[in-house]
Amino acid sequence: MLKWVGSKQRFAHEIVSFFPARFERYFEPFLGSGAVLGTLAPARAVASDAFQPLMEIWQTLHADAEMLKRWYKDRWHTFANGDKVEAYERIKARYNDAANAADLLFLCRSCYGGVVRFRMADGFMSTPCGAHSPISPAAFSKRVDDWHRRTKGAEFCVMDYTEAMKAARRGDLVYCDPPYKETQSILYGAQRFRLEELFEAIAQCKARGVFVALSIDGTKRSGNRVCNVRIPPRLFEREVFVTCGRSMLRRFQMGGKTLEGEVVADRLLLTY
Ligand SMILES: C[S@@+](CC[C@H](N)C(=O)[O-])C[C@H]1O[C@@H](n2cnc3c(N)ncnc32)[C@H](O)[C@@H]1O
Repeated sequence: MLKWVGSKQRFAHEIVSFFPARFERYFEPFLGSGAVLGTLAPARAVASDAFQPLMEIWQTLHADAEMLKRWYKDRWHTFANGDKVEAYERIKARYNDAANAADLLFLCRSCYGGVVRFRMADGFMSTPCGAHSPISPAAFSKRVDDWHRRTKGAEFCVMDYTEAMKAARRGDLVYCDPPYKETQSILYGAQRFRLEELFEAIAQCKARGVFVALSIDGTKRSGNRVCNVRIPPRLFEREVFVTCGRSMLRRFQMGGKTLEGEVVADRLLLTY
């Protein structure tokens, strides 16, 4: 439904395959476009993100799906029936004047490369108009209905991940996909994020009997790690490399030797 930087759409099925067979509630505290949530379609979930206009899109999906469709349709028609770039820039200027869910929704589907970029200092959205044609209102409506079904069990909240993770109890599962790369702070607006604090929150969850899965390295070629973070010893029980379609499982090793070859993979750490 949404286009989002760092979306896990391609890896979602495999990520889900490494979740525990049984758990109580599902938490996704760095929701973004919710690729993993939508793939898992859990019976009970708490889905959250610190980015307010984004969460308002999710909340509207359940409060009034028809309104979400209208938001898209109205903007799509203005866009398709006039000067596309000019219409896009008008929507972008309005968003930058007052951040809002309706404009963000259309911008993420129509901006260049689907990469909604925000300036760190003031959250200014700077991506130019994309060269592609954004999907039709009819196609968008179908996606809305589909995502509505898949995310029925979720409650959507604007929350810092620390708050969300504190609410997880024994037997719950938390999947974290944080903005781990320094460059990503540019992408998601002026949000404060420190990996060390996330490790601390994960340790507290683990101690309470909460299962935690963490995506950490983004898309990378194994053997050439994109980011070399120091992972606290004994926090994770397993490290899994998730690829588009196949995966390689191995014991977690400190200082982790990288896998041979040039497989594009996503790194997943598990506390269980
Ligand atoms: C890598 S993206 C998640 C992408 C998601 N897995 C998907 O499939 O689209 C990281 C998300 O974390 C959110 N974020 C950044 N700092 C946060 C914080 N302190 N608390 C909660 N969410 C935060 C950003 O708004 C962004 O949507």
